[in-house]
Amino acid sequence: MSDHDIRSIFVTGLRNAHAMENQALSIMKPQLLRVENYPDVLDRLEAHKRETENQITRLETVLSQLNESHSALKDVALSFTGSMAAMGHTMAGDEILKNSFANFAFENFEIAAYKSLLTVADLGGFTFAVQPLTANLAEEQAMAAWIDDHVAEITTRFATRKQAGQTAKV
Ligand SMILES: [Fe+2]
Repeated sequence: MSDHDIRSIFVTGLRNAHAMENQALSIMKPQLLRVENYPDVLDRLEAHKRETENQITRLETVLSQLNESHSALKDVALSFTGSMAAMGHTMAGDEILKNSFANFAFENFEIAAYKSLLTVADLGGFTFAVQPLTANLAEEQAMAAWIDDHVAEITTRFATRKQAGQTAKV
């Protein structure tokens, strides 16, 4: 494979990651407006929204280091994430659970994407990209681990609220 091929794979992957992170924001923002009764979830989502904004900046920096203008980026929504986002908007009473599952799925999608990008960076010798991509990966892994650590407890709280006849609102 030529250097040109590797570079092309890398730039495409970075652009896809940029689209992925914008999709992540569009999944998180509606949740930030709706979650009321799970303040720890709200805090973690707020923090990850800020992390995601930084991740987008890191990706734009790497693209500009490759002389690829990010202003030319046309982010295409991924169908996978689109349906996940739609799932989060359902008005069913278990919205907090469905959102948690969708967020966990999305974080794992992102983890795989950054592992792949780091591999391409290695193949192509794009050493300047390793630190920012590793930083993005670490934040996705931390968010996925947080959901993994809390989904059981969130479920218990959801069940307790339901038993107590409390509003189903998230
Ligand atoms: Fe994320």
